[in-house]
Amino acid sequence: MGRITVNLAPGELRKEGPIYDLPILVSILCASEQFPAPPEDSCMIGELSLDGRLRHANGVLSMTVKAKEEGFKSIFVPEANGPEAALVDGIDVYPVKDVRSLEMHLRGKELITPQRSEPFVPEYEALLDFADVVGQENAKRALTLAAAGFHHTLLIGAPGSGKSMMAKRLPSIMPYLTEKEALECTEIYSAAGLLPAGQALLRSRPVRSPHHSVSQFGFTGGGTRPRPGEISLAHNGILFLDEMPEFSRDTLESLRQPLEDGVVTITRVSGTCTFPSRFMLVCAMNPCRCGFFGHPTKACTCTVNQIREYRKRISGPLLDRIDLHVNVSPVLFEDLEKRKKGESSAFIRERVFKAREIQKERYKDIGITVNSQLTPDLIGRFCTPDARGQEILRAVFDRLSLSARGYDRILKVSRTIADLEGSPDITGEHIAEAVQYRSLDRDA
Ligand SMILES: Nc1ncnc2c1ncn2[C@@H]1O[C@H](COP(=O)(O)OP(=O)(O)O)[C@@H](O)[C@H]1O
Ligand SMILES: [Mg+2]
Ligand SMILES: [Zn+2]
Repeated sequence: MGRITVNLAPGELRKEGPIYDLPILVSILCASEQFPAPPEDSCMIGELSLDGRLRHANGVLSMTVKAKEEGFKSIFVPEANGPEAALVDGIDVYPVKDVRSLEMHLRGKELITPQRSEPFVPEYEALLDFADVVGQENAKRALTLAAAGFHHTLLIGAPGSGKSMMAKRLPSIMPYLTEKEALECTEIYSAAGLLPAGQALLRSRPVRSPHHSVSQFGFTGGGTRPRPGEISLAHNGILFLDEMPEFSRDTLESLRQPLEDGVVTITRVSGTCTFPSRFMLVCAMNPCRCGFFGHPTKACTCTVNQIREYRKRISGPLLDRIDLHVNVSPVLFEDLEKRKKGESSAFIRERVFKAREIQKERYKDIGITVNSQLTPDLIGRFCTPDARGQEILRAVFDRLSLSARGYDRILKVSRTIADLEGSPDITGEHIAEAVQYRSLDRDA
């Protein structure tokens, strides 16, 4: 019987959560000489259940990365987190089942086998296929461009025109997640407690589609123990905002920093914290409140002012940052009736893969991977159209009031159009197509 004082120093550093269970227990057992001391250059984390077993913990990947940076040679983690921790090279990971097996290991009686890292095998989740979409060649083309160049996209069209249907099929034509991307995503999912136990890496590209009633915290992340929000969970993947004008202004405006910088900074009383959030933004909206503005057969009942008000919910600067504005007209009844199958996702995907390879090769020395990441000075270097292209560009610029950003978007998108065709040059045709995807700039 007695009293044990445990001091977690330094005091100004906030220590939260159950992962200190194991180190505290082992310290007590070592101090009372019931347990041999673990090696100096090792560290351990883990929550205990009452029967001495270790429970799955959140954020183990990040902690293992940090442990390695701090110079530790080995780390003891709960067994269920072993595969995840083993993703970090240069540090030995010991998956611990329970306190008893840790004791046997430290006594040298029954050694725990270090966790070996699993090979990374990317996959697609069970996916909806573009073959189900009748007609809509223009919209499918635009989504192919989006997938190929990682371009932000806005689909505008009447209710029932298939916007949600097509957006849901976009993941099926995206390239496989690379191992580097998977690692970044896994760190975020692990920190958010969304990584399934026993799974090492996220294998498929994330897709997040928050409802428009999402809270600011849930969207951007935050809280006293900062948690990544939807925009970080969508990192390296798709953030789909259906019925975009229904989202609150604050929510939409909070997209601006991540769209610009690829990160989100969360300010809290105790300081700031930054999460990665480089996602492909895909939005859908009706053209007006009643939904039928520009509809081929139905009449719109909105006044000009109502239409303007409705569109103003998406601010100019936000629209400017979206590369592709896509008008989706409802598919004709005759076409639907025939139910002619569209091209399947597997075919479209092949073209996307090829265009991505071209981009990867072109940008291999400058640290970006896709056309949408081109900065203004890089656009000057990689997106110069041929003479005919320049001519068309000048003509549209004179006629339409495009912003400087809109101009850059056209060049980036035309680069992707050329890449999909395997063309090194950006031609007049490519520019002409890219201009079509700035429809909302012209309305303004
Ligand atoms: N091009 C199409 N091919 C096949 N079905 C379609 C097409 N367009 C719409 N539909 C049908 O109409 C339904 C409503 O489409 P939806 O994507 O919800 O429209 P929106 O989001 O534009 O309001 C779909 O679930 C689908 O069954
Ligand atoms: Mg919809
Ligand atoms: Zn209307």
